[in-house]
Amino acid sequence: MSTSIMNPVPPSAQSQENLNSAPALSAAQRSNLLPLTAAGYAWWRERSLRALGTAFTLEREAALFRALCRPQAGQDWLDVGTSAGFYAGVLARADCRVLAVDLSAPMLRVGARREPDARIDWAQLNMERSDLPDASFDGVTVGATLNETRDPAALLRECARVLRPGGQLWLMYLRRTAGPLQSLFGRPAAGGLNFPDPAWVARQLPGLGRTDGLGVGAVQFERYVRDGRPDDRTRGTL
Ligand SMILES: C[S@@+](CC[C@H](N)C(=O)[O-])C[C@H]1O[C@@H](n2cnc3c(N)ncnc32)[C@H](O)[C@@H]1O
Repeated sequence: MSTSIMNPVPPSAQSQENLNSAPALSAAQRSNLLPLTAAGYAWWRERSLRALGTAFTLEREAALFRALCRPQAGQDWLDVGTSAGFYAGVLARADCRVLAVDLSAPMLRVGARREPDARIDWAQLNMERSDLPDASFDGVTVGATLNETRDPAALLRECARVLRPGGQLWLMYLRRTAGPLQSLFGRPAAGGLNFPDPAWVARQLPGLGRTDGLGVGAVQFERYVRDGRPDDRTRGTL
């Protein structure tokens, strides 16, 4: 399959970054631009939830996503911060069309190699300020990208903007526990990671309703639906 790298960071945004003396990306984001990080990412992803003390495997994560979001054949999905293409692959196997985006070209190359599927397009894009059209996706997946992006509020706004009425937003992230490791990795020099509180996440998504939330240790899984038409699959908090 061909790898299409489209929708690069808009030229205006790039010049702004070049003129700006402040770092435009967090240390965690910059580390993901390295080929070495990209090469090891799938290995780490496979083990990361268990390393965090949960019994979650990737298969269980995919099963939870499929059970709650029920992606349908022919739907358009956006995978935000796709890395090695885990959610993009799950969606393509459900016969969805997927735009898998990431800041990092090496990550996109790894993803395209691991998930060679014609239903997936790969694009280098900063999802804090994308040029993607409004209301253009039936669903958006964000697997841990909230933790690494520089401005999680901007990223959530973009995710909400590109969702069609009734569209679904699936989030997986490490939530705030106020532990010492989170304080350390939150420091700019040590990564500048974010550990959002679920209530804070909900406040960034005013046009969306949370239908499901599941905490597994510090890992948070959430499904939101954009207002616009009734969602007849609404469930309570798990
Ligand atoms: C924790 S990894 C994501 C893992 C992947 N979603 C999964 O579930 O396996 C975070 C990824 O998001 C990308 N990223 C971080 N900030 C981004 C942004 N603002 N826009 C697009 N990609 C971003 C990084 O390059 C990295 O590949």
